Amino acid sequence: MYFFRFTFLHLISFISLLHIVTCADPLFHFCSNKGNYKNNGPFDNNYKILVSSLFSQVPPTGFALDSTGQGEEVVNGLALCRGDIPSNDCKSCVIEASDEVRKRCEYNKGGVIWYDSCMLKYSNEKFFGTIDYGNRFYMWNLNNVSDAESFNMKTKELLSKLSAKASSSSKFYAAQVEEIGEAEKLFGLVQCTRDLTKEKCKKCLDDAIGELNTCCDGRRGGRVVGGSCNFRYELYPFFYSAN
Ligand SMILES: *[C@@H]1O[C@H](CO)[C@@H](O)[C@H](O)[C@H]1NC(C)=O
Repeated sequence: MYFFRFTFLHLISFISLLHIVTCADPLFHFCSNKGNYKNNGPFDNNYKILVSSLFSQVPPTGFALDSTGQGEEVVNGLALCRGDIPSNDCKSCVIEASDEVRKRCEYNKGGVIWYDSCMLKYSNEKFFGTIDYGNRFYMWNLNNVSDAESFNMKTKELLSKLSAKASSSSKFYAAQVEEIGEAEKLFGLVQCTRDLTKEKCKKCLDDAIGELNTCCDGRRGGRVVGGSCNFRYELYPFFYSAN
């Protein structure tokens, strides 16, 4: 299992290089195995109602959460756009995500999908307010810095600062650029879903940052991406605005 995950992650880190050119492709997805539904059955109809509610609610703040249906057919879902994404792009990303995750997790009562600009998660199980440790993946730049030890420390320092900042902000989002050394700049971004409390947001981010060495030791860029929070750092600009 671990080996598969590991080799597969290599594959997505490689694919991520292509993302610079074709940014509309999903980064990754997971499907749950908590049961199946039928095409045009009650769950499917609830899914369609849910996602249309999500993409009509998401533009003003970049976050939406809703539940539709009852009993076995209930669908819980949330959508989150990266904190700096303009509202039109946010909405189209969520629409795309809802179609794509339905295709990729066909007839599956749960799934989650990530893009650079947004994520969408749905499930027949209640998940609001709980840190999602199950759905998580890493991405990293194939190239390394020359001084890994000091670079890792600076990365951890920046991300930890952003974790504190994001979890005490209303959008649970923070991004920042910092000079490191002569001519280099380190860009960092962190974000949580807004169903969490401030404390859980901070915990989610700090746990993800704790995986920095496993994921991205000495790498020029990296991400730990989960269902409740994520971080990303790069040596080049990748976000529009810091709050
Ligand atoms: C970066 O470091 C890793 C781990 O030490 C190594 O496997 C990889 O080949 C290095 N990448 C490059 C491009 O040198």
